[in-house]
Amino acid sequence: MAVGKDQVLAALAQIPAPDGQPLTRAGVLSDIVASDGKVFFSLTVDAAAVQAWEPVRKRAEDAVRAIAGVQSAMVALTAERRPGAAAARPAQPVARGPGPTPATPGHGHGHGQGIVGVPGVESIIAVASGKGGVGKSTTAVNLALGLRDLGLRVGILDADIYGPSLPKLLAIRERPQTIGGTRLKPISRYGLTVMSIGFLIEEETPMIWRGPMVMSALTQMLREVEWGELDIMVVDMPPGTGDAQLTMAQQVPLKGAVIVSTPQDLALIDARRGIAMFKRVNVPVLGIVENMSYFLCPECGSRSDIFGHGGARHEAERLGVPFLGEVPLHMTIREKSDAGLPVVATEPEGEHAVIYRAIAAKVRDQLAIGAKPAPKIVIEA
Ligand SMILES: Nc1ncnc2c1ncn2[C@@H]1O[C@H](COP(=O)(O)OP(=O)(O)O)[C@@H](O)[C@H]1O
Ligand SMILES: [Mg+2]
Repeated sequence: MAVGKDQVLAALAQIPAPDGQPLTRAGVLSDIVASDGKVFFSLTVDAAAVQAWEPVRKRAEDAVRAIAGVQSAMVALTAERRPGAAAARPAQPVARGPGPTPATPGHGHGHGQGIVGVPGVESIIAVASGKGGVGKSTTAVNLALGLRDLGLRVGILDADIYGPSLPKLLAIRERPQTIGGTRLKPISRYGLTVMSIGFLIEEETPMIWRGPMVMSALTQMLREVEWGELDIMVVDMPPGTGDAQLTMAQQVPLKGAVIVSTPQDLALIDARRGIAMFKRVNVPVLGIVENMSYFLCPECGSRSDIFGHGGARHEAERLGVPFLGEVPLHMTIREKSDAGLPVVATEPEGEHAVIYRAIAAKVRDQLAIGAKPAPKIVIEA
């Protein structure tokens, strides 16, 4: 028996909002998606009233689950971002490097007052791109592995709602197990601690639902996962610079962001937007990685700059953000990446691993992770 929207609405009409009026009249309901016995919708509420709304969300979910024919129900609470809220925030100094500001204990920057860090995790960084398909996930995975090779304890969180990649890039087929029924145990792969939004959101979930759902899924992945002690967590962000990305940048206590771009002009325009977005929320940009920078012929080893390489380096200079390195367009990177065998893990002595480790070292140095002084690496200018 198909579950209809009307049945859902009838059930919700029985539930009072915090001010006592029926939930269906509170003006917070999104459109309701009901298909194959699965029901999704969200309640968009004032950020300040989230606590009062949480029990309502729970009751709504339970009520929908109780409808005959409903197999699963997911009700997400999305905090409303008032127009201009991000821009209207009081300007805060960007305190870079170590030394937490008093307002945000545990963070080295002024972004997101009130955002709580993840216990046991020293630094969280984002890997972002202005658009999809530039190799963001491939970079995130190999960067994480490069950081691992530097002796750090590394986690990787796949927050890309549009295309969760980590299950594929790390060949993870199992689902995370729960601990004590409430907390999730992350997956371990190549020495990395891994969680993916792909584990929590079904692939068939319609795109419009991913936005609202991702907020609760993201919170869950940060707060309800046994990350353990980590020096650094790398977050594979959704591509682009829309609302979903901005909200995420505001919700995750980020120490910095790495922007991935291809050398093409268009991608660079997108990258610029990405940089602007992080600056707006006071997250320091750790630098730009130019991916698919040049083509390295696997037969002859000769190099050709098919996309007009060097654009990202130039752009980084212009924008005053560090340039972290260039990764060639190479069949091995593609094949290994898509087979779940990332190059840094499976060809640690190869030329690509060397490049990713150098990028990782620059990221580590910028974050000054761990109190121990890093060995000095002298790079000729
Ligand atoms: N440097 C590279 N050389 C060759 N192929 C690459 C490189 N970086 C990424 N790819 C390939 O490009 C595709 C998109 O990469 P992916 O990391 O999934 O991008 P995104 O996360 O930005 O969508 C994948 O098939 C990946 O294997
Ligand atoms: Mg991806």
